[in-house]
Amino acid sequence: MGDKEAGKFEMIPGIEEPLTADVSPDVAEVVEEFMSEAAEQNEAAKESSEALPGKPLPYISFENVSKSFGDLHVLREVNFCVLPGETLCILGRSGVGKSVSLQILMGFLKPDAGTVRVAGEDICGFTERDMQKIRRKVTMVFQNGALFDSVTVGENVAFPLRERGDLGEEQIQQVVKGLLEMVGVAGMEDLLPSDLSTGMKRSVAIARALSSQPEAILYDEPTTMVDPLMGQLLGNLIERLKRQLHLTSIVVTHDMRFAKKLADRIVFLHEGRALFFGTMEEMEKSEDPILREFFSLDELVLPQ
Ligand SMILES: Nc1ncnc2c1ncn2[C@@H]1O[C@H](COP(=O)(O)OP(=O)(O)O)[C@@H](O)[C@H]1O
Ligand SMILES: [Mg+2]
Repeated sequence: MGDKEAGKFEMIPGIEEPLTADVSPDVAEVVEEFMSEAAEQNEAAKESSEALPGKPLPYISFENVSKSFGDLHVLREVNFCVLPGETLCILGRSGVGKSVSLQILMGFLKPDAGTVRVAGEDICGFTERDMQKIRRKVTMVFQNGALFDSVTVGENVAFPLRERGDLGEEQIQQVVKGLLEMVGVAGMEDLLPSDLSTGMKRSVAIARALSSQPEAILYDEPTTMVDPLMGQLLGNLIERLKRQLHLTSIVVTHDMRFAKKLADRIVFLHEGRALFFGTMEEMEKSEDPILREFFSLDELVLPQ
């Protein structure tokens, strides 16, 4: 793993810590077993894709995807891909189509043209029922959490566990307790989503996503509009999930430092097109004036 930048970014808690470092001893074992099921499944998927001859098949991809709303051409023949276990960051100015891209991947919006692959499958022509199967493997963490407002935090997280039908009530309660501790909102089972701050709602949404043991999580601006400490906590959690669960992820973010730590690849959307697709190192070397401007603005907003 060898995090070359350890110490440069003071994240709390440390990214090398086990995911369950903060989980209380009475539920730690249950949660560890639950999480290791997911980690093993994702690692096996990654290894089997790498073992195939030729290029590994993307887990998620956009091939020449276009999407308009009336006269507004949001995406024009956009291409990018994410390999199993990789993290892609989507960057670009506000209104450029980042959230629309995630909605297309989740099947909430249909592209006008192009091919969309999710969980290795071409989802064009998928029915709502087919998409529901895909959404068990690929879950999305919305900016506002998109929790069920009328039920408690605990029931929100328990929902995917109950759907499985193979877990007893005590086990469900233990996993819920442990997952909430893991994402930094210990003991909030009995609160309603409306009692929580934006950042806490996002934490709970991540716990709910994890309770479905997904192969991939898509995050829409997970660290924005929360206080800096919460932003760090969420950022750190996402990084630990990537490293320790081998989760495939897509993270829409404005935070360049976060993208730098997290992204295996970046796609930079500009005026409907993928202006750049590659590693952060390549992006930093690019002479493209629009990318240079994006970097210089970022330095103004976030002094190093
Ligand atoms: N369902 C929709 N109907 C019409 N226009 C939409 C819809 N969703 C998004 N848009 C428009 O598409 C553009 C891209 O939106 P979005 O993907 O949300 O931007 P961002 O990159 O900030 O996430 C915006 O101009 C937005 O107003
Ligand atoms: Mg958006």
